[in-house]
Amino acid sequence: MFYIYLFNFSLSLPPQTKFETKKMKKTIFITGGAGFIGSHVVRLFVKKYADYRIINIDKLTYAGNLANLKDIEKAPNYIFEKADIVNVEQIKNLFVKYNPDGVIHLAAESHVDRSISNPTEFIFTNIVGTVNLLNAARSCWKDNYEGKRFYHISTDEVYGSLGEEGFFTENTAYDPRSPYSASKASSDHLVRAYNHTFGLPAVISNCSNNYGPNHFPEKLIPLAINNIKNMKSIPIYGKGENVRDWLYVIDHARAIDVIFHNGRDGETYNIGGNNEWTNIDLIRKLCEVMDNKLNREPGTSASLITFVQDRAGHDLRYAIDSTKLMKELGWKPSLQFEEGLEKTVDWYLNNVEWLNNIVSGDYKKYYEGMYGDKAK
Ligand code: NAD
Ligand code: TYD
Repeated sequence: MFYIYLFNFSLSLPPQTKFETKKMKKTIFITGGAGFIGSHVVRLFVKKYADYRIINIDKLTYAGNLANLKDIEKAPNYIFEKADIVNVEQIKNLFVKYNPDGVIHLAAESHVDRSISNPTEFIFTNIVGTVNLLNAARSCWKDNYEGKRFYHISTDEVYGSLGEEGFFTENTAYDPRSPYSASKASSDHLVRAYNHTFGLPAVISNCSNNYGPNHFPEKLIPLAINNIKNMKSIPIYGKGENVRDWLYVIDHARAIDVIFHNGRDGETYNIGGNNEWTNIDLIRKLCEVMDNKLNREPGTSASLITFVQDRAGHDLRYAIDSTKLMKELGWKPSLQFEEGLEKTVDWYLNNVEWLNNIVSGDYKKYYEGMYGDKAK
């Protein structure tokens, strides 16, 4: 078996050889599995379901990083396929090759600021890419949907922006306000349309802001950790009064597992941390944790906080009501925020090579273009 396994790696034999397909209960496509959330979902499924064949489909954009999956890359039930969900042929061929039972679709362009400076890529990947997957699934499953499921991962940002009160529920009307959230809203509508019109068994979840290990340092928390570590300014948009509801990424992965297996077709589930923070309070908290971990005088890291020009169209507040998911499927977050933040900081301080590999490459150019002299 060991011999066949190595052999398979070097000669790319058909997947049956590696997986002994007959013993595998299900074949699952996970798109975007080399990204932040996707890598945690891949890891959870590969480890928890030894009898599932997990196929990670990822284009490896700037945000995709196979180093996120080093610990499981040789698992016998895991395969990586480099492919672009926008490429019809590539996606069709993968469906023919593997005949999956389920798709968990996370691949996306995911950063709001990039969607403001370059919206078009978001339209291709998030909308056209999703439609390609839906078409390929329909054509592969030939309208025989027994045991099949298409699970689309979305965001709370499709609901728009809240005032000081209230929460997004599954019935909140869509009101996306950035090119990113508009592209995600569009893909959600298309998934629902395929469910309604063609009977494709689909389920959607909309989650609040995630944080945790492997988060690309263009997003607030890892960007701030990296800057604090290097005694660089921490850029806070506007007055830092915008509110986000933060959820530890592994709790999101756990919710995805529960919804994929027990959610109902045609339904939407909101996932949130019930954990709202203004950006400025969150960064102050993070500064305390960093001072402590780096043995700095209290206040050293907070002195790096710098208010910079606000993001265009910056949504004021997101907050999720996850009652449906908690009541119907019994999920709840496992970590308090303080504990999750400490774990996250520890991960970044212990994974210097991972972080340095990112910030030494194209990230530098991105950072200078985005923040210029304002946050050196
Ligand atoms: P990410 O940017 O870290 O990862 C995205 C992954 O998709 C990368 O590995 C990238 O290489 C891959 N990808 C991009 N374009 C592709 C293409 N054309 N073909 C194949 N692969 C492609 O994103 P993330 O933060 O892990 O988010 C994953 C999903 O979860 C997204 O759909 C996002 O909208 C959603 N989401 C994210 C958050 C959050 O806080 N990060 C919250 C709610 C929902
Ligand atoms: P981000 O991590 O980009 O996630 P999202 O825009 O999807 O919520 O941003 C989280 C919040 O932090 C958001 O209100 C914008 C703000 N922010 C800053 O203040 N400074 C920054 O440098 C970044 C990247 C974000």
